[in-house]
Amino acid sequence: MDITIAIDGPAAAGKSTTAARVARALAYSHLNSGLLYRAITWAASEHDWPADETGFDARLRNVDLRLERVGSGFRVLVDGVDPGLSLVSPATSARVSEVSARPSVRERVLELLEAEGGRGGIVCDGRDIGTVVFPNAELKVFLVASAEERGRRRLLDLGAEPTPEAIRDEAARLQRRDSLDSSRAVAPLRRAKDAVELDTTRMGAADVVDFIVGLARDRISSLG
Ligand code: CDP
Repeated sequence: MDITIAIDGPAAAGKSTTAARVARALAYSHLNSGLLYRAITWAASEHDWPADETGFDARLRNVDLRLERVGSGFRVLVDGVDPGLSLVSPATSARVSEVSARPSVRERVLELLEAEGGRGGIVCDGRDIGTVVFPNAELKVFLVASAEERGRRRLLDLGAEPTPEAIRDEAARLQRRDSLDSSRAVAPLRRAKDAVELDTTRMGAADVVDFIVGLARDRISSLG
């Protein structure tokens, strides 16, 4: 049987890389929910959406957001445009938590995720996947790592040099986002009660992937 795997955790804990590799190992699809929040944030900045709720929600209703399959993953199209690397730019990252706290944004993303992921055979990563999006997922993992290690990994992802000072600054940005994501009223970042927590601070990516694939295989065989 094809199960649903939810991977949640704070910023830059390695969720997306891990989810993509777990999906490949199981011949599942990988759905990165953060990409959708980033796409809406990019559209709002790029096209100057008003900040007030009525104005913002009107623009959100009119934007065409689509997930398009690419290999075992998805890319997101905003009115037919792939924003590419702008999705992970520092400017988008700085605004995404504020945008993703809006109830209208959460509702819109939830619809898209449910439409793609409702049939199993999926590894979905984010903040509220195990709690809100797929609360019945057969396997839930909550990935954590120290802020310093997460800062270091994010700098390497962005192609920047991980000097001690740069790590400190990046860790502070990630922690600011975590605190906004954890304190919002709707679907906050939180570990589901039935999630397996894994601290990856001192683990290599391959070991994290192997551990989760092992859990998934156990779950799949126990479910027949
Ligand atoms: O890759 P990183 O961990 O930095 O972040 P991401 O997964 O791309 O998510 C970017 C932002 O989207 C988060 O900081 C949250 O504000 C929001 N997000 C969310 O609210 N719920 C999710 N399921 C996924 C992301």
